[in-house]
Amino acid sequence: EKQGFRHYMLKEIYEQPGVVRTALEAYFNPNWHAQDNPDFSPVTLSLSPRLYEDLEHIQILACGTSWHASLIGKYLLEQLAGIPTTVDYASEFRYAPKPIIGNTLTIGVTQSGETADTIAALETEKERRANLEPKLQARLLGITNRPESTIAQLVDQIINTQAGIEIGVAATKTFVAQVMSFYFLALDLAFRRKTLPLEQIEQIITGLHQIPTQIEKTLESQANYIEELAHEFTKETEDFIFIGRGINFPIALEGALKLKEISYIHAEGYPAGEMKHGPIALLDTKVPVVAIAMPGSVYDKVLSNAQEAKARDARLIGVTSAMNAQEAAATFDDVLTVPEVEELISPILAVVPLQLLAYHIAAIKGLDVDQPRNLAKSVTVE
Ligand code: F6R
Repeated sequence: EKQGFRHYMLKEIYEQPGVVRTALEAYFNPNWHAQDNPDFSPVTLSLSPRLYEDLEHIQILACGTSWHASLIGKYLLEQLAGIPTTVDYASEFRYAPKPIIGNTLTIGVTQSGETADTIAALETEKERRANLEPKLQARLLGITNRPESTIAQLVDQIINTQAGIEIGVAATKTFVAQVMSFYFLALDLAFRRKTLPLEQIEQIITGLHQIPTQIEKTLESQANYIEELAHEFTKETEDFIFIGRGINFPIALEGALKLKEISYIHAEGYPAGEMKHGPIALLDTKVPVVAIAMPGSVYDKVLSNAQEAKARDARLIGVTSAMNAQEAAATFDDVLTVPEVEELISPILAVVPLQLLAYHIAAIKGLDVDQPRNLAKSVTVE
């Protein structure tokens, strides 16, 4: 049931505040307070100690949008919990697995739990470690929206993202739910490994609890504006570039993938600092550039990368916080705003305007948003 929405994708974009609320209720202990000096984790994932004890390394295997969520996961696991983390495409890893490192947690991230490459990559990992000494044995965690799926059977434990069934082929609410899982995991590990002061953990948790209303505000304030803006890219535009840095680089990749999948406009996501190493040659008046410029450690850098694009006459669209909107208007032709938020949790908000932009461009073009050509909801063949 589309409940009055024109497409499932749009309905699912609007379900995201609820998805985040469900996750927060499911995986945070409301009785945890830093000042009580608690000896229990704020996170209620109930991970088995075998998965996290003596961890030295995490490797994440995924495809598509789940791979983008994993890149944000890597950032969180490294920055919050201090654990070196690698992210591989499952389709690559299965044929060229990395050398074995001891005390490794392997995480398969898959919305459907049925992606053939992700299953194969995890099976490879399980088999090749099966008869090794204990510290080299596989420790497998799945992050999935389908607790009954093939992946769920294969791994030692899952995090159930609890986003509800997603029907639109383009992943939206399940992406947000996967990113939430990585906050829970990173905070749980940060607590257990004592890599963050309790006050900082509490501050991040408080910030995460504001996300549902912040997504609602973003949807309320941006929906009409983005629909209007989308009209400008439905006829002549053949290419788009998305740029971002740090924790929002994966959002540039995700914005580009959403647009490609459903509008059939060619789009690329780049780390903003890489533009000058090649892609800037593509820019002219016909190639819009979307810069994710969230306030934080790399804000000025992204802004100056965007100005370099502007100097090539590109049409510039910025995604930034409402507080910076005025300043950003000096650089960007169009400014998409989200509420003011800590950099660490900004990706969940930054992705929302990009989902809407892709959606409206495709919908105005009259395309089959929920069932794009050549794509399937779960890729169960190689
Ligand atoms: C993007 C999309 C695909 C999937 C990819 C992995 O919108 O839907 O890129 O993310 O096929 O699927 P799962 O997460 O089911 O393994």
